Amino acid sequence: MARATTHHVCSACGHESAKWHGRCPGCEEWGTLVEEAKPVAQAVSGRAGSAGSRGRALTPTPLAQVEAPQVARLRTGIGELDRVLGGGLVPGSLVLLGGSPGIGKSTIVTSALGNLVAGGHSALYVSGEESAAQVRLRAERLGPAALVVPIVAETDLDVVLATIEAERPDVCVVDSVQVLHAAGLTGAPGSVGQVREVAGRLMRVAKTQGVAIVLVGHVTKEGALAGPRVLEHLVDCVLSFEGERERTYRTLRALKNRFGSTNEAGVFEMRDEGLVEVEDASARFVAEATPRAPGSVILCSMEGSRPLLVEVQALVAPTELVPPRRMANGIDRNRLALVLAVLTRHAGISIGSADVFVSVAGGVRVDEPGADLAIALAIASAAKGIPLGSQDSPLAAFGEIGLTGELRHVAHPDRRLSEASKFGLERVLHPGLGLSTIGAALEAGFDPGQRSVRNGAPLAGVESRPHTAIPH
Ligand SMILES: Nc1ncnc2c1ncn2[C@@H]1O[C@H](COP(=O)(O)OP(=O)(O)OP(=O)(O)O)[C@@H](O)[C@H]1O
Ligand SMILES: [Mg+2]
Repeated sequence: MARATTHHVCSACGHESAKWHGRCPGCEEWGTLVEEAKPVAQAVSGRAGSAGSRGRALTPTPLAQVEAPQVARLRTGIGELDRVLGGGLVPGSLVLLGGSPGIGKSTIVTSALGNLVAGGHSALYVSGEESAAQVRLRAERLGPAALVVPIVAETDLDVVLATIEAERPDVCVVDSVQVLHAAGLTGAPGSVGQVREVAGRLMRVAKTQGVAIVLVGHVTKEGALAGPRVLEHLVDCVLSFEGERERTYRTLRALKNRFGSTNEAGVFEMRDEGLVEVEDASARFVAEATPRAPGSVILCSMEGSRPLLVEVQALVAPTELVPPRRMANGIDRNRLALVLAVLTRHAGISIGSADVFVSVAGGVRVDEPGADLAIALAIASAAKGIPLGSQDSPLAAFGEIGLTGELRHVAHPDRRLSEASKFGLERVLHPGLGLSTIGAALEAGFDPGQRSVRNGAPLAGVESRPHTAIPH
């Protein structure tokens, strides 16, 4: 017992050290040493292995002869969640569900477990963050199906593992991986070493006992916290729950999936009775759009294999601030910077002395290059103060913009177009129409009389002026 059971390993160069250092003595990187349990038995055999091979040689088998029993997936009864998982949970798999605090992780897993129990599967909810009574209060809100879920409130990893082995549930949820504590490591729960140890040991149980384990993990806005990020390579499937707490819509995405397609997404709405699937999200977003307002364009985007219509809104306002503000909500800031630069250089739209705000309505996040054209059109419309949509038909668009101002084709144009026509959107601008540049697309978007946008006439209220000192 006198010997230390842990050591510190540099995550950059692999240097091992008995003590923690702020700076790795091996590679001199800062903050890379992580506490890990010493793998005693493996260390001994590893040494012996390097001196001379003592392992038993195996005979490789052609893949066609490998036995792969078809295991039925465990359907959670939440259609969008099952779709994102690739058809349901795979027995014995380890799924990481990450999301910022308060987004609804506990809510969705409680509903899923309730449905699984109702479907005849055994389940276990390990709550480390909330007491059993608190989880019960949430379950009451979700309805009677959720109240049948068996729960233990525990944070000691050994106790949790013993409980899983004794109960042998089909599915176990650990809420959250950051609060479980592995005895033997000195690091606080949630530290990189602890989280890796906890996930590693849970994975062994998942694989050996055939229990599907869902690890809930918090991520900060920057995805920083020592949790989910360090686990991504370890688990079979990484789901990310996104959205803003204040908005009702949330998207669930698969960032990694060993058993299905990634980039699938499901849309949910937070209501009194829990997270409700929004099956026809396009219908909602199109109905809520404001086509007659300047700066509004419908984007025909793809969420994995599914088309989704969302409204992109832009606001361009003169400012004294240097540099002016560039705010992006639901799209990548770098993407916005690129579109603005192309608009300035290749479409003659100068927004150098205006604040630009771009937002995807409903709190949805769009991360695909096909969004460029809709963003550009929305900004041009906002800068001109001229709406692009007509009385009853909003303008829709999709397409990527290249650095030289050319329009590029994006994947699945047919699915995007059929989704648009399903919702009665008649005017859809896209590269397939023969529009080869951003200038041509803007011309087609505005009425033929308003060519000034393409020709670079000064925009109302946002003429270029030399930058002056920052006020006050
Ligand atoms: N009665 C209600 N009606 C609508 N929404 C509610 C209601 N009660 C709670 N919520 C929403 O549920 C969210 C909390 O859900 P949940 O506890 O599942 O989130 P979580 O991601 O597990 O959070 P944490 O990070 O604290 O574990 C709240 O942010 C709130 O938006
Ligand atoms: Mg929670």
